[in-house]
Amino acid sequence: MNINNICCIGAGYVGGPTMAVIALKCPDICVTVVDINPKKINQWNDKNLENLPVFEPGLKEIISKTRGINLFFSKDIDKAIIEAQMIFMAVNTPTKKNGEGKGFAADLSFVEKCASHIARVSKTDKIVVEKSTLPVRTAEKIKKVLFENNNKVKFEVISNPEFLAEGTAIQDLFKSDRVLIGGDSTNSGKNAVNALVKIYEKWIPKNKILTTNVWSSELSKLASNAMLAQRISSINSLSALCEHTGADISEVSLAIGMDSRIGEKFLKPSAGFGGSCFKKDILNLVYLSKFCGLNEVAEYWHQVIKINDYQKDRFAKIIIKNLDGNINGKKISILGWAFKKDTNDSRESSAIGVTSKLLDEGAKIHVYDPKVSSRRIVSDLIEFWKDKGESRSEINYKIKKITIEKTCQDSIRDSFAIAIMTEWEVFKEYDWVNIQDNMVEKPMIFDSRNIINEKMIDINKGIFYQLGTPQI
Ligand code: NAD
Ligand code: UGA
Repeated sequence: MNINNICCIGAGYVGGPTMAVIALKCPDICVTVVDINPKKINQWNDKNLENLPVFEPGLKEIISKTRGINLFFSKDIDKAIIEAQMIFMAVNTPTKKNGEGKGFAADLSFVEKCASHIARVSKTDKIVVEKSTLPVRTAEKIKKVLFENNNKVKFEVISNPEFLAEGTAIQDLFKSDRVLIGGDSTNSGKNAVNALVKIYEKWIPKNKILTTNVWSSELSKLASNAMLAQRISSINSLSALCEHTGADISEVSLAIGMDSRIGEKFLKPSAGFGGSCFKKDILNLVYLSKFCGLNEVAEYWHQVIKINDYQKDRFAKIIIKNLDGNINGKKISILGWAFKKDTNDSRESSAIGVTSKLLDEGAKIHVYDPKVSSRRIVSDLIEFWKDKGESRSEINYKIKKITIEKTCQDSIRDSFAIAIMTEWEVFKEYDWVNIQDNMVEKPMIFDSRNIINEKMIDINKGIFYQLGTPQI
């Protein structure tokens, strides 16, 4: 089966970049990306490519080559579904906030709405592709929703989880380590898988396209994220040990990573991993394990999250302790709000929890990030406090103590301490001695990313803390 018309439901961090790359690599396929959020579609259609809703290196160049040619962003969801032979579901799957499995299970309401929408308007057979990260056996639920709402056309549901990382999404999509496609072993299942294989084959070597059954594909996605996050929690737990023993985490990390069986990637310490997926996907895995009665397995993976929370809390406590346990009324500058460099995404960024703890202790917080908007920074904090059950008045009181700055200079001026939360390249290029001169008399710099070193600052001035370096 030759596919020449694709629709993607969900114009977010996955839907936008993945479809842009498919459109670029497959000029014979018409790709339409739709979303229930009309503002987002307007942003994707903005003439000024600086206003795209997703910032990713290399993305705007692809959009400029494909948009209006074979890539379209549209609010007309019905039309896009009707015309497509293959429909990707790239909608959000956050952790459930209410009901059965609250706090652990994935909220599948967006996926279910998507499936019923597809069923409601489809007039011809469709291949429905799970692009969102989903719990094992969700394909079964999707099939049920599709068939219950429309038994006149045939739907084939396949799984094709996405492995891109934000900040490197375009290079990850161009040169994927693997593309995973799970489908049924029936003839129609195999045909659907082959139709998608043919698309990827246009730029991904055949030996990197892995086809499996649906459940292996769904579980492999959750497991991959869990394994990556587990490495970060492992190195972060060791960073605490380094501070008490005189070992240095960068040396330990290098020594561990040189073992080819372990490898060097994902061994950088931080004040905890962020991003929209690691936490929610592991919680989902924990829920699934418990559901299967595998309590030890659930507890094993839950520990990855617990160490991550510990690390965020530990970093905030180190700042407070170094300021003699009293930060009330003191200006502290947060450099970097994005959960990693080269993205405007701040979902689950460790900057949120650290800032909240410092605000609770009475600090005056000034934040600077080169890409995250001030509206987003404020809404991250409000959502965080709402989830913790804080009242409107408490939130209003705390929000007044935070200032979002347009430049680093404004953020650091007269501050007692700086907390580097994101490893933005531009931070490495700053004149750190000059920054120290513009802070208070004994300034403190807390580097959670280990991006600056003693040669870049005047070590006789104030305190310089790097995560996982000896404090004895
Ligand atoms: P996102 O929040 O950026 O985008 C999801 C979009 O779907 C939103 O714009 C939302 O308005 C839209 N949407 C929700 N319900 C809809 C509906 N019924 N009809 C039309 N549009 C609808 O989320 P994301 O980061 O792109 O993640 C999407 C999925 O991909 C998640 O399951 C996530 O776990 C997975 N994933 C994300 C990444 C990543 O780097 N962000 C990487 C791999 C996998
Ligand atoms: C992660 C995975 O890497 C992707 O493969 C996956 O597709 C995606 O989640 C997803 O499912 O959403 P992402 O969260 O975008 O991608 O970014 P990562 O590079 O994995 O970083 C996640 C967090 O871990 C960031 O806060 C980063 O700073 C932190 N990190 C990463 C460390 O603290 N140390 C490291 O060594 C690596």
